Amino acid sequence: MINFNCNSLLCPVCGQALAQNGGSLICPQNHTYDIARQGYVNLLPVQQKHSLSPGDTPEMLTARRNFLNEGHYSRICGDVVNALGAIPGGVSSIADVGCGEGYYTAEFLRQFPAARIIGADISKAAVRMAASRTHQISWITATASHLPIEEGSMDGVTAMFSLFCEEEFARVLRSGGRVIEITAGTNHLIELKRVIYDEVFEQHKRPKPTQGFLREVSCELKSFRMTLDGKQLHDLLLMTPHTLRVKPENRERLEAMASLQLTAEYFIRVMEKWIVA
Ligand SMILES: C[S@@+](CC[C@H](N)C(=O)[O-])C[C@H]1O[C@@H](n2cnc3c(N)ncnc32)[C@H](O)[C@@H]1O
Repeated sequence: MINFNCNSLLCPVCGQALAQNGGSLICPQNHTYDIARQGYVNLLPVQQKHSLSPGDTPEMLTARRNFLNEGHYSRICGDVVNALGAIPGGVSSIADVGCGEGYYTAEFLRQFPAARIIGADISKAAVRMAASRTHQISWITATASHLPIEEGSMDGVTAMFSLFCEEEFARVLRSGGRVIEITAGTNHLIELKRVIYDEVFEQHKRPKPTQGFLREVSCELKSFRMTLDGKQLHDLLLMTPHTLRVKPENRERLEAMASLQLTAEYFIRVMEKWIVA
């Protein structure tokens, strides 16, 4: 039987604390959620689902896993680990929201082995794949806008290339806890876009301004270059939403390339929950 850490997890229906009972999590009102044999729990009520199978497809997830496991974004991961390590008062609990197939979440566990870590994603296929990395993380299907996580229970929330829900992230953070957000910069993968689109419209990208639930501590634009071979380019295209938009002839153009030098450009933004004296 999987020992599922349900500390600070709440029933998504009634909001009461969950406890493990055999192969399930159960709340005082007897709402019950099975622990899947792969090691995750579905805490996404049907009314919070936007579609039958929300999020990335299994094919996109496999490409993401291949690409990330090769370490191409390890610099991004290192930046986030450093930001988590700098949270005043320390980091003993982290929620990685929109965790995808779990590359970053598993790395957070490696770097903070004593921390209590939750990986949440709206896609069941994503958390199922994430759970194959380790059972020491509590993998849940959930939406970023209604996290089944106790108020004030997290030291850190990470949102890596995923949805930023300021009010909800602030709710689950303790006073002085921090959100670390990664978003793509204007030039992120620009060389890829030039190959796969007939015209590239330069959209000036910046993270959304905060609404007052969090205080911005820092926002830095960072970049690095990477050279990818044909297989890596194939995986990269497949793991991004570009794969859903690209014309077949442009996909072929990319598939025919032996290698390409690319820019990774991203904002790392750190935001803090106001400290109440
Ligand atoms: C671009 S992927 C990033 C995944 C992972 N953070 C990474 O960088 O590898 C965005 C992820 O957000 C998830 N997602 C989309 N909408 C969501 C929502 N409302 N709540 C939680 N996760 C969501 C998708 O299923 C997907 O796994």
